[in-house]
Amino acid sequence: MSDPLVLFMPSGKRGRFPRGTTVLEAARRLGVYVESVCGGRATCGRCEIEVQEGHFAKHKILSATEHLSPVGAKEARYAEKRELAPGRRLSCSATIEGDLVIDVPQEGAANAQIVRKDADNRVIERHPAVHLRYIEVEEPDMHHPLGDLDRLKAQIRKDWGYNRLDADFHVLCDVQKTLRQGNWAVTVAIHHDEEEDAARIIALWPGLKNEAYGLACDIGSTTIAMHLVSLLSGRVVASAGAPNPQIRFGEDLMSRVSYVMLNPDGRQAMTKAVRLEISRLVDRVATEGGVNRSDILDAVFVGNPVMHHLFLGIDPTELGGAPFALAVSGAVKARAADLHLGLNSGARIYMLPCIAGHVGADAAAVTLSEGPHRQDKMMLIVDIGTNAEIVLGNRKRLVAASSPTGPAFEGAEISSGQRAAAGAIERVRIDRTTLEPRFQVIGSQLWSNEPGFAEAIAATGLTGICGSGIIEVIAEMYLSGIISEDGVVDGGLATRTARIVSQGRTFAYLLHDGEPRILVTQNDVRAIQLAKAALYAGTKLLMEKQGVERVDAIRLAGAFGSYVDPIYAMVLGLIPDCELKNVSAVGNSAGTGARMALLNRSFRREIEEVVRRIEKIETALEPKFQKHFVHAMALPNKMDPFPKLRQQMELPPCKALSEEPRRRSRGGARRKAEILKPRRRCTGQSGKES
Ligand code: FES
Repeated sequence: MSDPLVLFMPSGKRGRFPRGTTVLEAARRLGVYVESVCGGRATCGRCEIEVQEGHFAKHKILSATEHLSPVGAKEARYAEKRELAPGRRLSCSATIEGDLVIDVPQEGAANAQIVRKDADNRVIERHPAVHLRYIEVEEPDMHHPLGDLDRLKAQIRKDWGYNRLDADFHVLCDVQKTLRQGNWAVTVAIHHDEEEDAARIIALWPGLKNEAYGLACDIGSTTIAMHLVSLLSGRVVASAGAPNPQIRFGEDLMSRVSYVMLNPDGRQAMTKAVRLEISRLVDRVATEGGVNRSDILDAVFVGNPVMHHLFLGIDPTELGGAPFALAVSGAVKARAADLHLGLNSGARIYMLPCIAGHVGADAAAVTLSEGPHRQDKMMLIVDIGTNAEIVLGNRKRLVAASSPTGPAFEGAEISSGQRAAAGAIERVRIDRTTLEPRFQVIGSQLWSNEPGFAEAIAATGLTGICGSGIIEVIAEMYLSGIISEDGVVDGGLATRTARIVSQGRTFAYLLHDGEPRILVTQNDVRAIQLAKAALYAGTKLLMEKQGVERVDAIRLAGAFGSYVDPIYAMVLGLIPDCELKNVSAVGNSAGTGARMALLNRSFRREIEEVVRRIEKIETALEPKFQKHFVHAMALPNKMDPFPKLRQQMELPPCKALSEEPRRRSRGGARRKAEILKPRRRCTGQSGKES
């Protein structure tokens, strides 16, 4: 008779095991993550599972609760003391006696995995760098004068099989008191990140402890976002965000680098400010989650290179100019205490590697999250900020660059522009016949021509237009024929509508005639053309490096990417032509990448390896950048035909321009390109801002 077949859900891993094997052991052998703190003593309750009953024809399994061993004494004792929900069993006690389908329950499984939203809905097993281990230690014996810590380590090696084990110094100071408090039973937190390194005891508690937490934090130059995550269940316990307080030293990255250059204490001030805000966020998530700060044992941080350096206390001056040298490009591991983060004394931090001096650990985190390196499709990842970080590739090859988009997408350099905040116009439509606009404002779902709109925005008012609003209004102006493919506002339409307003030698489009009066000026259109041309030129260079004429999928990351409508981004030629269904906003995928690295140390190794092989392209050194930039000044592009976009919607016919204005226009673009290039050089394109 063959051994019983056991299938674990939702991972789908299966295997045959001899009768009498514990379910926990079977899970371990298959690489299915089931937590265990007490080491199978049936005291921690972390290893709960459920049997799915029934006939699973597809798998040829007839699964029944009777195919597990009956509840034994230890399990019954646990159920009596700690309560075991109906149908639940302790996998460390229950043994396999027949074919089974085992469910790792939801609060464990949803928690224990990150279920990706990709088409394949891949389930990712969890394996954090910090584990809790319950240990019962022999009492001291005069005949065997081994120190308390040494006996503890010996027992851990014996129970859990660590070959090389060290302990943090602070643990040594506490070990005797804690062992006696716990009556020779303690829980240790063991940090073991890289397989070849020694594991380390980083914390110690008397008795059984079965909760430990970690942080996943994305330090954006505008916003800091933090998740508090249970390291045992994987559940996100609480999340919080706050503005980056460094904004008071400089709105954009380069003004912060300049602040450091010009002020002797500038670096210290900014490091202190960001760490203080992070500490406040820790307070917030800990309070919301009902968690003690000292139970936070691990933390993963991501950020662009300047944020990365300032958080670690590294002077970012070198990132301010060519060759944009990072102090460290590999992953950074440190003790949280070294950064004064006020977590557990033994807590560790991990920062993802930076891809280049202007493509940071945040882009690495997005790459980890979106996984272009795990598939064959040619995937483009764009994280748009003051500098756009761009990664293009698939499992064979990955290339990355940054493009100096400037702050136009964030509302700066736009006459009525503002950051995305309540009161900002974020959606715009223009009637193709009357050229009358309607719009939506952040904070309300109503369109401006719908009843109740004025009341709906009474609290916030109408304050300006944010990045996604600017993209939409300019794309709509193009689709309505208000601007040509060269971005020139057609003054001839002034006879048709009062929305076209003369402004000396150029014309503007009146989007809102009230308080405030919102005009989209010729300069606004130019600023967006410059920004999108820079982004597209960078993307084009990467496509050339890859030898491809089109991309299969596009992921728009970051705050701006989350709000911009992909079709309008394509109409403007901000992103290359692609099947629209394959273009998606991925929100804070840098935060997701950070959470993956927190919950599974193999993702750390994965991204470290991937970053090592990403080819970095320096756009400033590429002679073709200027040519692509000039072509990309047109809407959507002077040279690229955008066939997929044209299948989706009708684009205006190219307006026949006389040779003279065309030449003038190109010359203007070239001049603008030249204006932009020096700016990038002196600003150092040091990473996107989010
Ligand atoms: Fe602790 Fe099963 S491993 S109760």
